[in-house]
Amino acid sequence: MTDRKVEFYRHDLGDVELESLKKTIGSVFLTTGPRTAEFERALGEYLGVPHVIGVSSCTDGLMLALSAFGVGQGDEVITTPMTFIATPNAAIYVGATPVFVDVDPATGLIDPDAVEAAITPRTKAILCVHLYGQMADVKRLRQIADRHHLVLIEDSAHGVEMRRDGAAPGQLGDAAVFSFYATKTITCGDGGAIAVRDSQINERLRRLRNHGMTKDAASRYTGTYKHWDMVELGFKCGLSDIDAAVLLPQLARVDQRCDSREAAVRRYEQRLADLAGTRLLRWTGRSAHHLFTVLTPPGRRDELLDALGKRGIGVAVNYRAVHLLTFYKERFGFRPGAFPHAEEIGDRTLTLPLYPWISLDDVDYVAEQYRSLAGGEAA
Ligand SMILES: Cc1ncc(COP(=O)(O)O)c(C=O)c1O
Repeated sequence: MTDRKVEFYRHDLGDVELESLKKTIGSVFLTTGPRTAEFERALGEYLGVPHVIGVSSCTDGLMLALSAFGVGQGDEVITTPMTFIATPNAAIYVGATPVFVDVDPATGLIDPDAVEAAITPRTKAILCVHLYGQMADVKRLRQIADRHHLVLIEDSAHGVEMRRDGAAPGQLGDAAVFSFYATKTITCGDGGAIAVRDSQINERLRRLRNHGMTKDAASRYTGTYKHWDMVELGFKCGLSDIDAAVLLPQLARVDQRCDSREAAVRRYEQRLADLAGTRLLRWTGRSAHHLFTVLTPPGRRDELLDALGKRGIGVAVNYRAVHLLTFYKERFGFRPGAFPHAEEIGDRTLTLPLYPWISLDDVDYVAEQYRSLAGGEAA
């Protein structure tokens, strides 16, 4: 037994972020203002999507996006149970019902055929999730949404870097929503953004993040005072200039950091792909590689989680299938067996340490520890 430790995640915020923060703290504006606008422009350019609205979290952003497209009481939102609870919770916040469909067992991504089969006259939106940074099949989901006149929202909490079929999040969906939570690929501790193409939806989202007011603080206090009105019931969930100051420098190195995570993922795969009983999910093209997970031999996940933790390796579970969590079971009556592929992943998935500056030596060490515990070596 050694005292070597490999943390689950480490941020690399440092001097450039401090310099950027100094500029904001030395200015008069701290809340949603010029730095937020600068970040919104920069992220919009990076994504190739015309409007980006900074918000306080991805959770709030999902709720706002659903509200902006008029999804509410009595509506159904088709989504995946292989996600973080924030995804279906957002549908419930606006009064809608999340309708789960199963995932593709090879990738863990929502299955477009299952989506189409679940559409009813009450369906208003499809809320897909780009799991671990691998984009769902947004091209097919767009076709399905158009055929049935549905809104398509992309939960893109797991990265801004991902691309599929030449499209970035927000280019095919009606809205893509990002997270800048502490462990995400760019972070300010807590924050989020929504990318949209429609200018009216953009304006509505700007109002909705600010109580439903017609003027935000920047426009109220720049120049002479002007009255504002409240035209609809909004929320208080903007991204502050302080958050934007921390995020802005990270955007400049986002691709380089993604390449480094990809190199670590490829190394994990080289070291683990041959193990009998362990399975790896498939990814292709440009994944954001937010998380690297293995599917452990059936029935052994919790034991391996515990044993790796005891050996000083930071591990997590992303995710146990949402429909089997207590609230969802009690509210909607779900039982095991409802979505077998999501449940299989939920029972077997184990997340290993991954961040851009993890050394390949640490990756080898983690893989070696996993191998020695999980077994399955060829004889
Ligand atoms: C898939 C998914 N959606 C939504 C969220 C919520 O993000 P936030 O913490 O920014 O609200 C998360 C957070 O981890 C997530 O993983």
